[in-house]
Amino acid sequence: MITLHPKINLEIFMMQITIIGFGNQAKSWALNLRDSNFKVTVALRKNSSSIKGVTDLGFSIQYLEEKLQGDYFCLLTPDHTHQDFFKSFKSSLPDQAKVIYAHGYSVLTHKLEKLYPDFTHLLLAPKSIGSELRAQFESGGDLGGVYSVEYSSAPELDTKAILEISKGLGLNLGPYKATFEHETRADLFSEQGILCSMIPYMASEMYDQLIAKGIEPELAYFECWYELKLIVKTMVDIGPQKFFDLISPNALIGSEKGFQKLVTPDLKAKLRDLYTEIENNQFDTEIKNTNLEVLRKTISSRWANSGLMKAHQLVQKESK
Ligand SMILES: NC(=O)c1ccc[n+]([C@@H]2O[C@H](COP(=O)([O-])OP(=O)(O)OC[C@H]3O[C@@H](n4cnc5c(N)ncnc54)[C@H](OP(=O)(O)O)[C@@H]3O)[C@@H](O)[C@H]2O)c1
Repeated sequence: MITLHPKINLEIFMMQITIIGFGNQAKSWALNLRDSNFKVTVALRKNSSSIKGVTDLGFSIQYLEEKLQGDYFCLLTPDHTHQDFFKSFKSSLPDQAKVIYAHGYSVLTHKLEKLYPDFTHLLLAPKSIGSELRAQFESGGDLGGVYSVEYSSAPELDTKAILEISKGLGLNLGPYKATFEHETRADLFSEQGILCSMIPYMASEMYDQLIAKGIEPELAYFECWYELKLIVKTMVDIGPQKFFDLISPNALIGSEKGFQKLVTPDLKAKLRDLYTEIENNQFDTEIKNTNLEVLRKTISSRWANSGLMKAHQLVQKESK
């Protein structure tokens, strides 16, 4: 038996979307959905530093401290703030509000669906950083994502709405059905194993080695960093097999050598460890024990002092 949310009718495009927060994802969600003819408002704290930016872009604001209106509420504040959001602003949401998350982490970790069973917890996770969500929307590029309605009491209606919202965001690959758990684990694993670790840190290590051997910084920068965006785009556009069919003989032989030397049983075991530590919640404990501000400053200063960053600044300055 499907219960219709009182404010939802068959005119799915009349849905009012309330975007909570105005950071990386939220800004792109708000702009894309408005450009796709959804009725969009932005909800912020009364002391938010984003108020001017939101009004300058012509959005109307709702305040989290007051009664909120909307059919779907996209909770686009950082994951570690979601629990506090409910503690502070639960009573501002309408009864049985439908909340959409861009990542499953907070629901999975804090069991928000159990703590706040009166609300519907939905997932629509674009697989893109916020700035690219907007850029790809504007250029008509590819955007993928996944969704889940596993905690919905009206899954058909919510699926229909989620798919429309996804289209409005510009997603054209999927969105594929997943679960909060799978989306969270896969996302954390890809960040830890490749996207936010191996790619930047391997590039930096290799840059430093080239510099130590007397290679010019601009050349080392092109080889280790700049070319990444072109080669990764090609890999994704044409797929791994065609990519390896196309690369030059030297690149092919070198690739095999690097693969044999670097992708060792030890690396595979370390990747398995990363996943296990996500699965057994060790990583959650590490998150809880981390001072985020201190870590962000430490990592920011590590990169500010890196040779790769200096080369980046040099080349970018010369390209202007
Ligand atoms: N970053 C990405 O590109 C990316 C990629 C994929 C998925 N996601 C997901 O998208 C969601 C948002 O992440 P994000 O990186 O876009 O966040 P973000 O940029 O850090 O969000 C900042 C916004 O959140 C508001 N905010 C912060 N703490 C708050 C609180 N306690 N109560 C109310 N509002 C609060 C801020 O309000 P003020 O204006 O008052 O400062 C600001 O408007 C997360 O679930 C994340 O996992 C992000």
